Amino acid sequence: MINVAILGLGTVGGGVAEVIEKNQNEIRKTLGDNIHVKYILDIRDIPGVVNDINIIVNDPDIKVVCETMGGKEPAYTYTHLALERGISVCTSNKELVDAHGVELSAIAREHNCSYLFEASVGGGIPLLRTIREAFGHERVSRIAGILNGTCNYILTNMKAGKDFDSALKEAQEKGFAERNPAADVEGHDTARKIAILASLVSGKKFSYEQVSCEGITSITQQDIADAESNGMAIKLLGVYEADGPSVVVAPYLVPKSSPLYAVNDVFNGIMISGNMVNDVMFYGRGAGKLPTASAVVSDVIECAKNIGHNIHTGFSDIQPVQSVNAPSKPEGRKLRVLGE
Ligand code: HSE
Repeated sequence: MINVAILGLGTVGGGVAEVIEKNQNEIRKTLGDNIHVKYILDIRDIPGVVNDINIIVNDPDIKVVCETMGGKEPAYTYTHLALERGISVCTSNKELVDAHGVELSAIAREHNCSYLFEASVGGGIPLLRTIREAFGHERVSRIAGILNGTCNYILTNMKAGKDFDSALKEAQEKGFAERNPAADVEGHDTARKIAILASLVSGKKFSYEQVSCEGITSITQQDIADAESNGMAIKLLGVYEADGPSVVVAPYLVPKSSPLYAVNDVFNGIMISGNMVNDVMFYGRGAGKLPTASAVVSDVIECAKNIGHNIHTGFSDIQPVQSVNAPSKPEGRKLRVLGE
């Protein structure tokens, strides 16, 4: 039996408990063992839930912790404490991965455990593991991705006639949006995700502050209708170009000929261009309780298969990128066009 703890009983944390409970048979088949949630920690007083991280990190039964708290603190301190004791940490927390992922990965390596963050980008899409395992030998020239489920949900619903505020409210009710939805609609969440992807494929650490970032708050229904009449859709994209390099988050006009055109609602779509494999497209639910929790559990299983070993993600020895270009928007245009 592999004993785990969940830090943070929010949407994703609750989903992790549900995935582990409902798919115990499938987990046993792939892992050869059961996973048991021994503790759930939350800062709120909830019956059956612990408040003190020391109970968890001092319990020698605990092999893996799922950090689904979000935000920098106390997630950073708790992750640090667990890794220093050789307990692997699996997280959905892109803010923490962007800000401290390198340091935390180095601590994990030093203590023969792992820091995995599959759920931090692309929700339920098995994206980071695939990049790690299947793209290591590729020279990636470009990534263009719809990486925020909330924004895509809003833009899709605006196209169908709904106003921005009601579409955002629905995304919040469905558990897609961040606690502070400004992180979604102003593009910061996408910026963190494309910075993580750029870092993984380039072997240089890009941080969210280096991303030239614009959100969707200025997009009107008229913009969407104009795009539609020109055979295009407006999508919030994160775009990394190795040439430069540059990392941009902005609303783009996406032509019908692009597979990203048809990525709607909460779905994410990520196109990665490698010099040998050419274009590869990933598609799936980019936000929401169970898809995101499924990605966390996939990390828990990988950590459970590697107890006492560090899983190398490439983050522990990565150096900061020296300089990043900030390509300006074509003059006189409100929106960039994908592919131009
Ligand atoms: N708020 C994020 C989104 C959650 O809408 O994509 C998943 O990272």
